[in-house]
Amino acid sequence: MLETNQYFKGEKGLELTNVEWLLDHHKTKLQERRKTVDELNLKPGDVVLDLGCGPGLWTHLLAEKVKPNGRVVGLDFSPDLKSD
Ligand SMILES: C[S@@+](CC[C@H](N)C(=O)[O-])C[C@H]1O[C@@H](n2cnc3c(N)ncnc32)[C@H](O)[C@@H]1O
Repeated sequence: MLETNQYFKGEKGLELTNVEWLLDHHKTKLQERRKTVDELNLKPGDVVLDLGCGPGLWTHLLAEKVKPNGRVVGLDFSPDLKSD
């Protein structure tokens, strides 16, 4: 388990807490996620299952591609990720 006062080197060499590192990491990977989603050639109206979607970092990018009448279902079995 990570200690909350533990520090990590971020993408720009700054010392970050674990949460800050996670946010920094996901932000820097956004361009790569967009490129991968572009390569899926999804079209408006498509239906997508984002199995193991975690916190949904890909789900909203997929939804952008299939809107306005498509659908993305994000499914994750981790109880930590349940929505209210
Ligand atoms: C490495 S995380 C990736 C999360 C997300 N896809 C991403 O790239 O940010 C893998 C996720 O898959 C979920 N998962 C693994 N096996 C699963 C299953 N059989 N059914 C539903 N979710 C599953 C885990 O709970 C975890 O949140």
